[in-house]
Amino acid sequence: MKPLIFDHEAAPDFFELMSKQLDGETGEFISHIFPDGESYVRVLSECAQRDAVVITNLHKPNSKILPLIFLCETLKGLGISSIKLVCPYLPYMRQDIQLHTGEGITSRFFSKLISQYFDSLVTIDPHLHRYKSLDEIYTLETCVLNANPEVASWVKANIKNPIVIGPDSESEQWAASAASIIKCPYIILKKVRKGDKDVLISPPNAKQYNHLTPVLIDDIISTGRTMIKTAEALKVEGFQAAVCIGVHAVFSDGAYAEMKKSHISKIITCNTIPHETNLIDLSSIMSAKIKSQ
Ligand code: R5P
Repeated sequence: MKPLIFDHEAAPDFFELMSKQLDGETGEFISHIFPDGESYVRVLSECAQRDAVVITNLHKPNSKILPLIFLCETLKGLGISSIKLVCPYLPYMRQDIQLHTGEGITSRFFSKLISQYFDSLVTIDPHLHRYKSLDEIYTLETCVLNANPEVASWVKANIKNPIVIGPDSESEQWAASAASIIKCPYIILKKVRKGDKDVLISPPNAKQYNHLTPVLIDDIISTGRTMIKTAEALKVEGFQAAVCIGVHAVFSDGAYAEMKKSHISKIITCNTIPHETNLIDLSSIMSAKIKSQ
């Protein structure tokens, strides 16, 4: 029997692409916020002994989590066989260490919560820094996809004479593999972050490549400081304005506008979080993976 595909606050374009490609049956449910702010959910589809795929967008997750869990519990009460959470951007991955006494390691709390309710999780390029794999903190079945082939195809088709630049050591995992697909050089810069918006970038040995088009690749663009400071550091080395590619368009308030004013010529993201910069579609790699599972 076809899986039931539920849209839980998914980006509309992304959901439409995914549901066409997955060839499932749309799961029908009503959700509502009461005047007192509490959530209501009612599932209309016949669920007994069927598999469910819940497609969501957990950017700015706090207000979305409780209704998501209520939907999940309702599906279980109706006899659903399994629930797969499709979460293109996985939040709460960056707090992976206690930097000051008394801090909560929220990546662990969030993973515990999600693991408790769902059977499996499919996501794209979660921010794996100190954790090497999601399995270190998630106890459900996880599937991690990588945007690099699609990012590399976009660069190949649109940018002449590129050099891929990873702004910090964590970005090497994306920069190195994208450069090898594009067949162009890459360099990794050094980043020191002193605060949310206080970022220092140093570009060792970059000048020799300043005749090439700098393509900055990172997993997340949040405050945009990493991209802005990298582009400025490259400008000092004689580079033209940078092309910035982020997998996840987190863009905190004002970040996109500030980036557009800096030494950046193009800002491109993948469609894991809806934004006007979403030029790289990842729905087909996600749906292909889900169908093959
Ligand atoms: C850092 O660990 C990530 O890979 C990104 O470099 C970072 O999240 C970007 O943040 P922002 O846009 O705030 O500089």
